[in-house]
Formats: sequence, structure tokens, C-alpha cells
Amino acid sequence: MTHPSIVILTGAGISAESGLGTFRDEGGLWAQHRIEDVATPEGFARNPQLVVDFYNARRAHAATATPNAAHAALARLEAEYPGDVLLVTQNVDGLHEMAGSQRVVHMHGALNGALCAACDHRWPAPLEMYVGQACPSCGQPTARPDIVWFGEIPYHMDEIQETLSRADIFAAIGTSGNVYPAAGFVQLASHVGAKTVEMNLDPSETVALFEETRPGKASETVPLWVDSLLRR
Ligand code: OAD
Repeated sequence: MTHPSIVILTGAGISAESGLGTFRDEGGLWAQHRIEDVATPEGFARNPQLVVDFYNARRAHAATATPNAAHAALARLEAEYPGDVLLVTQNVDGLHEMAGSQRVVHMHGALNGALCAACDHRWPAPLEMYVGQACPSCGQPTARPDIVWFGEIPYHMDEIQETLSRADIFAAIGTSGNVYPAAGFVQLASHVGAKTVEMNLDPSETVALFEETRPGKASETVPLWVDSLLRR
């Protein structure tokens, strides 16, 4: 018997109970900072210091966080489920890996990565990056955080789309459904006949596209959902 193949998309809501703020909830990051200042290539060109400081602060904050029961449940699913599981995250923290997940695709980049804007070389970011930091490969002073900004193309889209095209189950956890292409994954999954489930505190922008919704805190809904899959 083959086991249904599962694709999971996570967003900032899964890390909220680990103390990391979301973007669009009341008092979230986008209420405190302008997206165009800190999360676009144009913002970085205008004021690199502001952008580097923003991600240094987020990196320092993420370094103090620990995974919660939702991250742990997804790691357990990957370890114990006999079928295929792909975890796609929009999050730039490392909490899925810290919880033990091994197959994690960071479609919006990662705080622990540095990227050369000149030659695309990638290397582990120090806790504090600085403006004009040299790329260890080409030597240009063009290091930047390895974060996908608005107007840039998310990473690993071929792998994600290919896996979604043969998914039997698609779950979205802790994401508001505001940012594409991630917000469109539910449509791709439905199109190929996958069962779709949303686990979110509040209904997302795309809640109507899901077959099933499990409202509530991720630390409560995700372990129950994982239990139901492992009991099959
Ligand atoms: P958002 O801040 O847009 O949405 C977070 C969602 O999590 C909301 O719908 C909340 O209801 C939900 N939520 C909050 N606490 C929760 C909890 N304890 N359990 C379950 N759900 C909870 O964050 P994202 O959807 O991840 O991109 O945002 C998507 C992208 O927009 C981010 O990756 C980032 C941002 O701009 C870039 O910076 C490129």
C-alpha cells in the first residue's frame, strides 16, 4: 500500500508561540516597519544600514527562540510517517531544523545565510552582518542577508511545484495567505485532487479554498493533526 504524499506550508504563525512576532497580526513586524524600506532590493539600495540592522535584530531575536509543540510534531511526522513528506516554510528562522525536521525548504531564505549580491555566492551569516561586508568568493563588498525580498523570486519553486503536483494532502499552517506564490499552493494542490487543510488562528485570506479548517493555536492543532496521520 502506498501512503498519501504530504506537502506542508508553514508561516510566521507556527513560530508565534516561540516568541517570534508575525508580520500582519496586530503589532506585527509590518506595523512597525515599512515593507518597502526593509524587505525590497530598492530599500537595501537606498539605506543598506537600516536593512542590515533590521535583519541583525531579527537574527539575534531568533537565536533566543526555541521550537514549540507544533514544530516538534512536524519533525515527528517526518521521522515516523512511512510516506513522502515535504515541509516548505516561508519562515526565515531555523526552528523547524532545531526541532529535528530534516527535509525543509526555505522558500523565503534564511536568517542564518548570507548572499553575495554580485556573484550569488552563499555562506553562513555571522550573528551580526555589516554594510560593505566582503563576499568570501569574489571579494566584492556586496554581502546581503539571504532573504527573498518583495520583487524577488522565491527559492526552490521547481521542487515545490513538482512535489505539489503529486501531493495527496496539502496543509497550510500559520500563514495569512497574503503573499504569493505561497498563497496559491492550495489551488495547485486542489487542482491535482489533494485533500487540503488549513491550521490557523484566524481564517486566512484563502480559507474558502480549503476543504477542511482546524482553527486554533498551532501548538494545539498541529500535534492533533499529526496524531491523526500517524494513526491511519
Ligand atoms: P503573517 O503575519 O501574514 O500571518 C501569520 C498568520 O498566523 C495569521 O493568519 C495569524 O492568524 C496566524 N497565527 C498567529 N498566531 C498563531 C498561532 N499561535 N497558531 C497558528 N496560527 C497563528 O505571516 P506569513 O503568512 O508567514 O515574507 O507571511 C508571509 C510572508 O509575508 C512572510 O514570509 C514574509 C512576509 O512579508 C517576506 O518577508 C518575503
